[in-house]
Amino acid sequence: MSTGGAQVSVETREKLYEGKAKIVYATNRPGMIIQYFKDDATAFNALKRGTIVGKGVVNNRMSAAMFERLARAGVPTHYLGTLSDREMLCRRLEIIKIETIVRNIVAGSLAKRTGLEEGTPITAPVVELYYKSDPLGDPMLNDDHVRMMKLATPADLAWMRRTALRINAVLRPHMKKRGLLLVDFKLEFGRSGKTLYLGDEISPDTCRLWDVTTREKLDKDRFRRDLGGVEEAYQEVYRRLVGPRA
Ligand code: TMP
Repeated sequence: MSTGGAQVSVETREKLYEGKAKIVYATNRPGMIIQYFKDDATAFNALKRGTIVGKGVVNNRMSAAMFERLARAGVPTHYLGTLSDREMLCRRLEIIKIETIVRNIVAGSLAKRTGLEEGTPITAPVVELYYKSDPLGDPMLNDDHVRMMKLATPADLAWMRRTALRINAVLRPHMKKRGLLLVDFKLEFGRSGKTLYLGDEISPDTCRLWDVTTREKLDKDRFRRDLGGVEEAYQEVYRRLVGPRA
């Protein structure tokens, strides 16, 4: 595959990794990989499996739009360009095995853990850390655990927390203008040399997004909780954050 552009020509090489929702390929360009976005959906550590038709396109295009916006706000991301509806060119990172979650409204596991009702507003955003480990089911960690396990240095962790809150400060008002409440979201960071970057994706798979007025869920919770209208919700998010489908 090639971009066909005059300046960049990228060819896909071997598959490096296949995850639940994406495939990562090496390329002919050193330090660059391709993320291929699938329609496969899983939940509850892959106990539940399914397909969300068109999800790969939505997640690829929405992630690109969010990464571009973050780059303009000074947040370093792994995004280098869009190659096709489902393929994104990215800087190759050594992923830090921590999932960073930012929460603005109580939902999901925070509602379960605290007994607070889903939808309860949070005054100052809450940042949580989880160990990225499928066999262990992504358990929650605190800073001491991160230090003990040497998952990140204290300086890296401080940067991750600061950057996660900065990302929230950029995306939350942007999405609100487009009729979406950014309830919570998951981030992954990684290193290239000594520099840290935001990696992975920003999509309805990794964010909870509610309609500002009706509070209708427009994200992967429709799949997790069998609410129906899953594809329609992804397309609606695409329409609001990326633009009309051709
Ligand atoms: P939680 O309420 O289940 O902890 O999820 C918090 C946020 O993280 C939510 O926006 C969905 C996202 N998330 C992922 O991206 N991957 C996961 O494996 C899980 C459990 C949550």
